Amino acid sequence: MCMKKMFFFLLLPLVMLLSACDEGDIVEKTTAYKSGGYVVKMTGSIANMDSWPDGYDVVVAVFNEDKDADHYVSAKRIPTTYDGSAFVYHVSDVIGAYTSIRLCVVNNLHMPVMNVDTLYSVETSVVSGDTIYYDASGKDVAMFKAVTDMFEKESCTQCHVNSKAAGKLGLKAADAYAQLVNVTSNHYPNESDAVFFKRVVPGNADTSLLYKALMVDTVLTGYNHVSHIQTKKNEYLVRTLVRDWINNEK
Ligand code: HEC
Repeated sequence: MCMKKMFFFLLLPLVMLLSACDEGDIVEKTTAYKSGGYVVKMTGSIANMDSWPDGYDVVVAVFNEDKDADHYVSAKRIPTTYDGSAFVYHVSDVIGAYTSIRLCVVNNLHMPVMNVDTLYSVETSVVSGDTIYYDASGKDVAMFKAVTDMFEKESCTQCHVNSKAAGKLGLKAADAYAQLVNVTSNHYPNESDAVFFKRVVPGNADTSLLYKALMVDTVLTGYNHVSHIQTKKNEYLVRTLVRDWINNEK
């Protein structure tokens, strides 16, 4: 046996061993599911792509709804220069019974902070061939929309339904901006008092009552808002979204 051949025979088991370790449990799954091969083709322009600060990305992302839909499995960032002409994403992940593909905004922990639309899910999608066509026309990813969606989701709007309700603060999408930004607090309105707040000071979350109210466990605004945010994970998401939106406001 020549040296080259011998080298090959020695090397082969090693290569096999290494690749077996590498792929681990993925090998098992691919046999039962469609492995990769989908192509997402998106057209149609998306409004307010540039409204997000560093640390957030507008993406098309693959989620596993069964295991951990709070973090994407993989994603492709849509560049802020995307003008609606074409965005192509070759999805190489396993497409299984619990896979969904969403247009969303994610933070740097790969968590969705704004779900815009579902492009693919096993229950609702019939895909002929391997291409998922998606028209994004009319979709809006404005960061402030994510904030008002959150006010709805966390039921802030149940109490803050309009300017005559709790704290004389309306947090419905139509009112929220005008009632927050540069508006003096209803509870702490006097600049000459020891404690004075504006609801939102653009560019400065730390001095904004909206952010403070979500930060402190004590009853800063006469009502414990922290206990209202349902889970610890939400608490983090809600706070960082509010903070980053205020700090990004001009
Ligand atoms: C169960 C009712 C309730 C819910 C739900 C609620 N709030 Fe409040 N909120 C109040 C009340 C009552 C006040 C006024 C307290 C006071 O002035 O003493 C207030 C005050 C505030 C203020 C201060 C207003 C000002 O100008 O002084 C902010 C900001 C605020 N809430 C934000 C929120 C946000 C954001 C949410 C959702 C995460 C939320 N609230 C959910 C009852 C609620």
